[in-house]
Amino acid sequence: MKRIFVTGGAGYIGSHVVKALGEAGYEVLTYDNLSTGNKWSVLYGELIIADLSDEETLKKTIVKFKPDAIMHFAASIVVPESVRSPLKYYQNNTVNTLNLLKAAQEGGVKEFIFSSTAAVYGNAEKMPVGENAPMSPVNPYGSSKMMAEKILRDMHLADNDFNYVSLRYFNVAGADGGCRIGQAYKESTHLITRALKTAKGEFQKLQVFGTDYPTPDGTCIRDYIHVDDIADAHVLALEYLLDKGKSEVFNCGYGHGYSVREVIAAAKKVTGIDFKVEETGRRGGDPSILIADNTKIKQKLRWQPKYDDLEYIIKTAWTWENSYHGKYS
Ligand code: UFG
Repeated sequence: MKRIFVTGGAGYIGSHVVKALGEAGYEVLTYDNLSTGNKWSVLYGELIIADLSDEETLKKTIVKFKPDAIMHFAASIVVPESVRSPLKYYQNNTVNTLNLLKAAQEGGVKEFIFSSTAAVYGNAEKMPVGENAPMSPVNPYGSSKMMAEKILRDMHLADNDFNYVSLRYFNVAGADGGCRIGQAYKESTHLITRALKTAKGEFQKLQVFGTDYPTPDGTCIRDYIHVDDIADAHVLALEYLLDKGKSEVFNCGYGHGYSVREVIAAAKKVTGIDFKVEETGRRGGDPSILIADNTKIKQKLRWQPKYDDLEYIIKTAWTWENSYHGKYS
C-alpha cells in the first residue's frame, strides 16, 4: 500500500483529498496544526497535530512514515488578508514549503503535489488562462505561492528524480456529496460560503466588493469548481507521479466563470431566501476575471469533471452549512 503524507489534511480541500485517497486505498498520514482545520474532518488515517515551522517534528515524522509521496495543502489562503498581512503569507506559504521540502529531501521523498492557485496569474492578458501564461500575481497570497512554485521548479532542475505536480486551483467550493465534510472555518471570507451564511442569518447582509470591473455586469468573474472534482485531480496527479511522470503544472477549473452577481442569484435560488445584498467598493487584490484553460489536465491526466454545475455546488455547500452546526476542531 502506497503511503501519502498530507499537510493540511484537516482543512477544507485537504480533507476532501484525504477522503479520496482513503477511498482509493492509499495509507494516509495527515500533518495539520488545526489553525483552520478540524480533527473530525480527517476521515482516513492518523492525524499528527503540529506546525510546519516545527522542523524537528516535521523531519522526524516524515523519516518515520517513509511516504511514497507528499501532498502539501497547509497554507493561508485569504486574498484580502494577504494584502494586510503579507509576512504571514510569505511565512506560511513560502517558508513553510521550504521547510517541508528540506524534510522531504532528508526523508528521500521524490514525489510532491503542491496546492497552487490561479492567483499566480494576476490579471492575465488572455482568458481562459493557460499554464504558459506568465506568473504575475497582484496580491501577496499569489506571490507567496508563485515563490513556492519557483522553488519546486529549481528543485527539479537540480535533481531530475525529484518530480512535482503543481495544481493551480481556481475557486474551490461545495462540499462532500455524502455531507460528512465541508468548509468549516468560522471566519471564511469566500463568496459562496459568505452568501450561504448570510442566507442562514449569520450575517445581516452580503457585500459585493466592486461593481465597476471591466466585466459584463461590473462584478468579478471566477471559475467555481466543486471540491470533489479537485480531489479527483489530486488522485490522478498522484498516479501520474507514481507512474514516473515528470514535473508538471496544471490548471484546475472548469473553463468558464460566473460573476459575483450570478453567484448571488444562484445562491438565492438554491436556498429560496432573498437575503440582503449591499454593493460596496472594490476589495484590495482582486483580479477582475479568472477562468481556467483546462485542456492540459484533461489531456494529460484524463481528468473528467463530474460536478460542473453551479447550482449543485451551492446545493452541497448549503446542505453542509445546515448540517454541521458550526462544530469546530
Ligand atoms: N466577494 C464579494 N463578497 C464577499 C466575498 C467575495 O463580493 O463577501 C467577491 C470577491 O471580491 C471576488 C469574488 O467574490 O471578486 C470571489 O472571492 P472569494 O473570496 O470567494 O475568492 P477569491 O477569488 O478571492 O480567491 C479564491 C481563493 C484563492 C484562489 C482564488 C483563485 O481563496 O485561494 O480563488 O481564483 F487563489
